[in-house]
Amino acid sequence: MTYAHWKPEIDNDNICWLHLDVANSSTNILSSAVLDELLKVLDELSQSLPKGIVFVSDKSNGFIAGADINEFTVIKTYDEAMTMLNRGHAVMNKIEAMPCTTVAMIKGFCLGGGMELALACNYRIMCDDASTRVGLPEIKLGIHPGYGGSVRSILKAGPVAAMNAMLTGRMLKGRQAKGMGLVDELVPDRQLKRTAHYFVTTKPAPRTLGFKNKLMNHRLVRPLIANQMRKTVSAKASEKHYPAPYKLINLWQKHMDNPTRMLQKEAESVASLVTDYTAQNLVHVFFLQEKLKSQGKKSDFKPAHIHVIGGGVMGGDIAAWCALRGFNVTVQDREPSVLAATMKRSQDMFKKKFKKDKRSIRESLDRLIPDHRGIGVRHADIIIEAIFEDKDVKQTLYKVIEPQMKEGAILATNTSSIPLEKLATCLKQPERLVGVHFFNPVALMPLVEIVRGKNTSDEVMTQALAFGRQIDKLPLPVISKPGFLVNRILMPYLLEAVQMIEEGMAPEKIDQAALNFGMPMGPIELADTVGLDVCRSVAKILSENMNVSLPPRMDTLVDNKKLGKKTGEGFYKWSRGRPVKNKNVTFSNINDLENRMIFRLLNEAVACLREQVVENEDLIDAGVIFGTGFAPFRGGPLHHVHAEGVTEMKALLESLEQRYGDRFSPDKKWTSL
Ligand code: NAI
Repeated sequence: MTYAHWKPEIDNDNICWLHLDVANSSTNILSSAVLDELLKVLDELSQSLPKGIVFVSDKSNGFIAGADINEFTVIKTYDEAMTMLNRGHAVMNKIEAMPCTTVAMIKGFCLGGGMELALACNYRIMCDDASTRVGLPEIKLGIHPGYGGSVRSILKAGPVAAMNAMLTGRMLKGRQAKGMGLVDELVPDRQLKRTAHYFVTTKPAPRTLGFKNKLMNHRLVRPLIANQMRKTVSAKASEKHYPAPYKLINLWQKHMDNPTRMLQKEAESVASLVTDYTAQNLVHVFFLQEKLKSQGKKSDFKPAHIHVIGGGVMGGDIAAWCALRGFNVTVQDREPSVLAATMKRSQDMFKKKFKKDKRSIRESLDRLIPDHRGIGVRHADIIIEAIFEDKDVKQTLYKVIEPQMKEGAILATNTSSIPLEKLATCLKQPERLVGVHFFNPVALMPLVEIVRGKNTSDEVMTQALAFGRQIDKLPLPVISKPGFLVNRILMPYLLEAVQMIEEGMAPEKIDQAALNFGMPMGPIELADTVGLDVCRSVAKILSENMNVSLPPRMDTLVDNKKLGKKTGEGFYKWSRGRPVKNKNVTFSNINDLENRMIFRLLNEAVACLREQVVENEDLIDAGVIFGTGFAPFRGGPLHHVHAEGVTEMKALLESLEQRYGDRFSPDKKWTSL
């Protein structure tokens, strides 16, 4: 029989190499159709019974990327979810029960449902190369493994290592996966086939769990370890907002004594999660992320050489980040001492990223060249300017460098507030100026705003978007309006928080109100972390164009050089990189505080939609989530407004307006949302 996705190929030794090449898809994903077909293939193979079955991918980009997330979006009821999960379980159980040896030959990404398939095989062979990774990242979508992966990973790697991998959802390199026992062998590409053949023919004894792991799986020990796990998880995510990790811990604690029952309970647990608010929204966020990634696909522009001017907080880190991502970079600053510090900081970034991988650290350092005299300007395909936030200073520089730039080279500015039109007035070719606005800290923030000025050409815009993606950031196209998208939406929220301090409220209480909503960090702690001087300068620029006024407390602190974390004091006192918080503050009646901050943010998001700062609602949601960390489980500010009901939300905003004044006046766009 021939199949659409699976291609069984029997060799001379009667081993079936079962190739997966999902039709009409660049990536192997386990959709219902692919799983249904696999059941048929396995039925057929049960009849002819080869000596063994080796699962192989025919896609160059990986083994199997996971289940089909699109299918999650159409599931509306618990029963529909159970149908999907039971199908997955039927397939995995069938693989496990095959009377012949089964091997997963993993090269490239093997994630989620793909890893669950691999775990159902007798053996897993992994390619020892940089692009091969395994993992169970379901938690990031608000669920946990649902095709038997929770049970099987714990049986293979023990509860602590397996639960840790599932609770963080992180991807594992070959050595880690082998060390944990998740895979049986790690070999170079050229030996993959031979090793798979060897496992089929010799059937080495499978690894079993050691004494310690068996003990930790014991019914009397599990509650202790489970409590510890709950404690660790609760420091990162509350059960109310993110139920999946807690459900996974419960599942293991209650049912590990009976793996068959645990498989059934696993499916029930995921079925209840998948239709839930959090998972639905996290799936929405996953697609928002894909949307941002696709913004970078409209051009194949790839710079051979990047030149960064300004080696300060931002320029230094941008240069280091680009070198880390594999580009040749020169970095220029008028101060040689700044460049020395830039190189030191870059080395720290590389070490943090690559850890013990000395080769990658050395190669990244080799790609980053300090260039005091700016020789790189003539060779660069893109020049990123990150010097002082001053129009005249920037223009003086542009006049010097423009005549030296290569034909077709892009001039990108990291300005956070100066309109591009104003900067472009001194240029002979203003169409080559584009904003590439990074966020601080560069290595951690996934978003980069790609700013279109009035003169920016379409070609330069698409090239800059492609560049953003190539350095592994999420590029968001925005137009050149004050504050662009992210700072503009964030600032009213921050200023409302400062206003409440002005009214005598404790910073701890204000921060807690934001955490209750699901923000990753309170606004007062955030302002201290970013630096109150930076906040004030952005707020000042925005206040010229928007209905925001600067609370005097901000001025007083900045004038007294109390800038936050970097000076050891701002709204909080800081000790060892952490704010010292008053533990005696009580958190009663903080709903109003939460509403005041969040509604200013939501109202500004609506205003940005009206002014078309970005193309559509999804891009606003994506920008605010990836640029500010806005509670991902709510799916973004505008998604949240729709979920709660536009009319109800507008009425709440109006009640805030009555009590606190016109900074809460609903934007005109509310009526046509
Ligand atoms: P910074 O003061 O840390 O660094 C600026 C660097 O530029 C200094 O090392 C200075 O010596 C150098 N410089 C100044 N004029 C120069 C010239 N003509 N030629 C060569 N080097 C020159 O400033 P920071 O914070 O890195 O900001 C740079 C740009 O990035 C600004 O436009 C700022 O608005 C923007 N930005 C800053 C963010 C932040 O959080 N600090 C966030 C996003 C954007």
